[in-house]
Amino acid sequence: MEKYSIALLPGDGIGVDVVREGRKVLETISNIHGGYSFSFTEFDWSCEYYAKHGKMMPDDGLEILKNFDSIFLGAVGYPGVPDHVSLWGLLLPIRRQFEQYINLRPVKLLKGIQSPLAGKTSKDLDFIVIRENNEGEYSSIGGRMYEGTDMDMAIQNSVFTRKGVERVLRYAFNVAQKQGKRGHVTAATKSNGINHTMPFWDEYVEKISHEYPGISHDTVHIDALAAFFVSKPETMDVVVASNLFGDILTDLGAAIVGGLGIAPSANINPEKKYPSMFEPVHGSAPDIAGKGIANPLASIWCTSMMLDHLGQPESAKAIIDAMEDVLQEKEVLTPDLGGHSTTEQVGDYICEKLRARLG
Ligand code: NAD
Ligand code: IPM
Ligand code: MN
Repeated sequence: MEKYSIALLPGDGIGVDVVREGRKVLETISNIHGGYSFSFTEFDWSCEYYAKHGKMMPDDGLEILKNFDSIFLGAVGYPGVPDHVSLWGLLLPIRRQFEQYINLRPVKLLKGIQSPLAGKTSKDLDFIVIRENNEGEYSSIGGRMYEGTDMDMAIQNSVFTRKGVERVLRYAFNVAQKQGKRGHVTAATKSNGINHTMPFWDEYVEKISHEYPGISHDTVHIDALAAFFVSKPETMDVVVASNLFGDILTDLGAAIVGGLGIAPSANINPEKKYPSMFEPVHGSAPDIAGKGIANPLASIWCTSMMLDHLGQPESAKAIIDAMEDVLQEKEVLTPDLGGHSTTEQVGDYICEKLRARLG
């Protein structure tokens, strides 16, 4: 029997609540399936940990995580610790050190959810954003100069490498070839205004596209692309974007298919040399933390992506089916989806649906 070791990093705010429900779903589905099991190890690395230890994780934190099959994360960052300190102390080093250079962020309207875009149905809203996750605009190169003078300034350099750009583009074209609906890649750019990195990105889009003669592609400026997400999302199939553009596009993508409470993401190391990490698109939501009303569905969708990655596609699909059961019934939903239920009640209800479907 397969046994998967999972590192749980609930982190901050609602991360703690939603990871608890995700774990419950993983335990439930593995019990029903019977052919595999999980061992969970939970780490309390967070802003609270920082308050006690002056760091977000122990010095050998990454060494510890390295040996797990997957990492399941809630959210990192909370008022009291500057965001750049908490994120560069935990989440971003994991993505980088473990070469999770692909960030998969599906934009898919599940059955039972009404898009805020009038008239758009699940046929129109079904695509995936592939976000470059290791370089680009997220670089610690740069600095502050002349602080305290009237020349005070900050510079942040973007880093786009041939290796980094080629691998994310190839991944995107491969996805379009294997599982795209239309065999089309849309590459986000901004080469009209950003005159070094973005022309470089565009050049590699053209170059890699020649390796995939059956796949069509276009390159769209990020500002226009943001508008197209709203005005003609049905034209999207596989969208590939740099780190920052992908980050922004995927909160927008979340908003058109039900909100941040439901949007999942997978930080993938395709070579499987290191563990991949699964986490909702959303953050720690300090405005609702501690109230027990965070939507756990984003986190639960992440468990489905994890099971897919671990080689259990049937279980992965069963979780999405159970989510759609619950969403269509509309009886047990958190307030962000118009319901009155708690985080825990939604998690329990998903488990009940899984047992009803498979048990
Ligand atoms: P956020 O995603 O935490 O919250 C944005 C809005 O969405 C809030 O109104 C929140 O209540 C709502 N929301 C988010 N998740 C929800 C859920 N599951 N159910 C219901 N409503 C939900 O974004 P923010 O406020 O910009 O960030 C808060 C903190 O989280 C910051 O410290 C930020 O840096 C961090 N953050 C971390 C991650 C991560 O760890 N991956 C991602 C984004 C933000
Ligand atoms: C995300 C988050 C992170 C990112 C932040 C918290 C650094 O917004 O995962 O989308 O920008 O990657
Ligand atoms: Mn984000």
